[in-house]
Amino acid sequence: MSEAKRLAAEKAIEYVEPGSIIGVGTGSTVAYFIDALGRMEDRIKGAVSSSDQSSERLRAAGIEVYELNATGPLSLYVDGADECDPHKRLIKGGGAALTREKIIAEASARFICIVDPSKQVDVLGKFPLPVEVIPMARSLVAREILAMTRAQPVWRQDANERGVLTDNGNVILDIHGLAITDPLAMESAINQIPGVVAVGLFARRAADIVIIGGEPPKIL
Ligand code: A5P
Repeated sequence: MSEAKRLAAEKAIEYVEPGSIIGVGTGSTVAYFIDALGRMEDRIKGAVSSSDQSSERLRAAGIEVYELNATGPLSLYVDGADECDPHKRLIKGGGAALTREKIIAEASARFICIVDPSKQVDVLGKFPLPVEVIPMARSLVAREILAMTRAQPVWRQDANERGVLTDNGNVILDIHGLAITDPLAMESAINQIPGVVAVGLFARRAADIVIIGGEPPKIL
């Protein structure tokens, strides 16, 4: 699938305006996009990044990283996804960067999502839905999610079986076994639980354009 990711990322470069400051997401598809940004002849002015990992890669490509508070609204945000439905609603957060991704998507006039074909689904939820949670609320939020959805929230662990911490110092619960027939309602219900920082459902602010990597890439 890495070839399809690369093709999607390189297609997205066509939407980038030289001299602009753009939002840049996180993940392996975005890594191809950052590499392609670094090769642009007419370069961008800089980027607002959704993770420490992407900031590092952007700087290595010679691209200046800006704070969102310093740039104001952005014209374009490019990011990957873990799942995408036909209405361009997404599950994101497999890389634990969902909160910053949501913030940058909200701040951007246009959100282009770059995926390989395996990310396309009819109904969101096969990919476990990530929720970023304030550490002291982990058990409370897990109980409330279980009561609300009847699906199982699992505390995300790293390879050493230690709880994953986000760039914001919070934990992640992944909700397994969902079939999300009303993404907007679920996004707003989970957002209401005290202790939830963000849920990785992008329905209220879905993608504007989805590029599915292939020869040629498909545009939704
Ligand atoms: C990061 O938290 C995620 O939202 C990524 O956008 C998502 O996991 C896609 O990752 P890949 O591009 O690595 O498949």
